[in-house]
Amino acid sequence: MKSKPILDIRDYHVSLWIQEMMTPVIRGVDLSVNRGEILGILGESGSGKSVLLKTFLGLMKASSYNITSGEVLFDGLSLLDLTLAERTALLGKEIAFIFQNPTQTLSPFKTVSWHFKEVFRIHGLDYKIEKVHEVLKDVGIQNITAVLNMYPYQLSGGMGQRIAIALAVVLNPKLIIADEPTSAIDASLKLKILELLSKINTKYNTSMILVTHDFDVIKRITHQTAVMYGGIVMSYGDTNDLFSKAVHPYTLGLIKCANALKGEAHEIYQLEGYPKSPLAFTAGCPFAERCAYKSSICETVIPKAESFAGGYYRCCNPILEGGFSAK
Ligand SMILES: Nc1ncnc2c1ncn2[C@@H]1O[C@H](COP(=O)(O)OP(=O)(O)OP(=O)(O)O)[C@@H](O)[C@H]1O
Ligand SMILES: [Mg+2]
Repeated sequence: MKSKPILDIRDYHVSLWIQEMMTPVIRGVDLSVNRGEILGILGESGSGKSVLLKTFLGLMKASSYNITSGEVLFDGLSLLDLTLAERTALLGKEIAFIFQNPTQTLSPFKTVSWHFKEVFRIHGLDYKIEKVHEVLKDVGIQNITAVLNMYPYQLSGGMGQRIAIALAVVLNPKLIIADEPTSAIDASLKLKILELLSKINTKYNTSMILVTHDFDVIKRITHQTAVMYGGIVMSYGDTNDLFSKAVHPYTLGLIKCANALKGEAHEIYQLEGYPKSPLAFTAGCPFAERCAYKSSICETVIPKAESFAGGYYRCCNPILEGGFSAK
């Protein structure tokens, strides 16, 4: 029997203050991360990926949002019921967050070594220099002693992100959440960083959520994938199934765009239109106005989740007969 997921998000709703209105942004997300597995999250800019992940960890300004309903269980513990002290004790130790840019993790006035010592200190643990050396080696840092004495401005972007990853793994967290960890890094280093995350997943059996716009990365290193749009999950399931048979028109559109960009398609494909601002959300499917498969029902209800291939999709007009092979 499969063990319980390390993270279970159920019917999660979040509103944000936007133009002085408390506006629904995350509108009923159900997702889980299996132990030792990597969940990839895809979706156009503004689909709600960061708001989803940052709000249940308390990483956004508390007055800027309101979790209006739902449940988030981490290893059986309700994250939404934690006190600030309990959450601080959990973050960095059991759950680590890797931001888009290392400057969001590293203080410009402190050495690399200080940051590692601080992680141990915050959690009341003795500093273990051997462990720090081990993780720095894992992330491919050479001249470790010299690097430990450096300040962030002395590090390249790629090196800074490796240090941020090393800081995230040094206490062996059970779950790492990486929100576009390579978008601030040049292309040649991207793959290395992502392979590094994959290696960490294998070496330490760390579960992960990886937000990325890169389909190749998703296909290469994730076990499951969720596609977000308009504050809901449009499709979710085993990565292979999701890509080998796209049943959701939005997933299909993203795949076609990615293939066109790689030059694998005969013609350039682009998804018409743009994602809506949460201020313009209606009672209908958020993708309806851009969808080639839309019918009248799409304007009136947000589609319910329908089970499919170990996961689900949310669409009233799925591409079911044979699906679209996107291999
Ligand atoms: N602090 C904030 N105040 C007001 N609106 C916000 C805030 N943060 C995000 N939003 C809005 O919430 C929606 C979801 O944003 P979010 O940052 O989660 O998108 P995303 O999927 O992470 O996009 P990207 O791929 O660009 O990082 C967007 O419409 C965004 O403009
Ligand atoms: Mg984001």
